[in-house]
Amino acid sequence: MSPLSLKPANEFTIPQLAELMTRSFEGYFVPVNITDVILLTMLRRDGVDLTASRVIMKDDEPSGLALIARRGWTSRLAAMGIVSTARNGGTGTWAMQQLIVEAQVRGEKEMLVEVIEQNTAGVKLYEKVGFTKIRRLVGYKLENPPIESEEELEEIDIRDLARQVTHHGLKDLPWQLSGPTIAHHTPPSRAFRLNDAYCLISNPEALDVSISSVLVKARSRGAGLSAVLMRALFARFPNKVWHVSPIFPEEMGIIFEQVGMTRETLSQWQMSLKL
Ligand SMILES: CC(C)(COP(=O)(O)OP(=O)(O)OC[C@H]1O[C@@H](n2cnc3c(N)ncnc32)[C@H](O)[C@@H]1OP(=O)(O)O)[C@@H](O)C(=O)NCCC(=O)NCCS
Repeated sequence: MSPLSLKPANEFTIPQLAELMTRSFEGYFVPVNITDVILLTMLRRDGVDLTASRVIMKDDEPSGLALIARRGWTSRLAAMGIVSTARNGGTGTWAMQQLIVEAQVRGEKEMLVEVIEQNTAGVKLYEKVGFTKIRRLVGYKLENPPIESEEELEEIDIRDLARQVTHHGLKDLPWQLSGPTIAHHTPPSRAFRLNDAYCLISNPEALDVSISSVLVKARSRGAGLSAVLMRALFARFPNKVWHVSPIFPEEMGIIFEQVGMTRETLSQWQMSLKL
């Protein structure tokens, strides 16, 4: 009998899954410490379905975790990790093969994943089971930018921003930037508008603030509105360290570069597998 099997993640408690996820990402490119609240937020925001997610069992021990998010015909591998002692022995490949068959059986047509470009094992694994690259995703950072704007931002409901993103955003935006995900952001995150430009930021009371969405309506693109919006944001919340996580399409990078942000070294591949 094979020592490998899969169990539905909903047979485990949230603390068990959080602890397993932390162990499965040991030695990762960024420190991963999953608390119950972080896991619950991820499940809610990203649409993770625990009945389709799997705990990877090896010799009857939980040895890895695959979180599967689902929307219509598409699913996303929201997290995939194998505990360090069980890595590099074919477990990841075996689990991915099972997960792909399960997605086909559910009637889905596409599976998505984002993987850190520098993560050799991860990129190899996904390419081996048939994923192809859609585009590179990049991130940025800027400490304490100069104040160069007197424009007034209007605060809007995050739900209104989500509607605009769904309507005006790229159809194949990475999962975390898509309208349905944005709609699940809640205070203390905040959304702002300046004319036809929109953005979403994490709690601006903190020193480190993340820009989670930037959008300019289709009719107003090419006029530098995103830079005007971001300078107004920097002026409204001075003395911050601004972050853009590496989930933005590389072709959007220019909007962060033109306000002086510096590209982060970690980048990701947005990948897709047609089922
Ligand atoms: C990525 C990960 C899930 C792969 O699982 P695994 O059980 O180690 O995968 P496999 O043993 O099936 O190996 C898959 C491929 O990666 C290669 N590989 C595994 N570890 C490697 C390493 N450290 N360096 C280079 N290649 C490696 C294997 O050789 C294999 O390729 P091959 O078939 O061409 O030889 C696992 O390494 C892991 O959990 N890493 C930490 C979390 C993570 O990075 N998750 C992915 C985030 S999207």
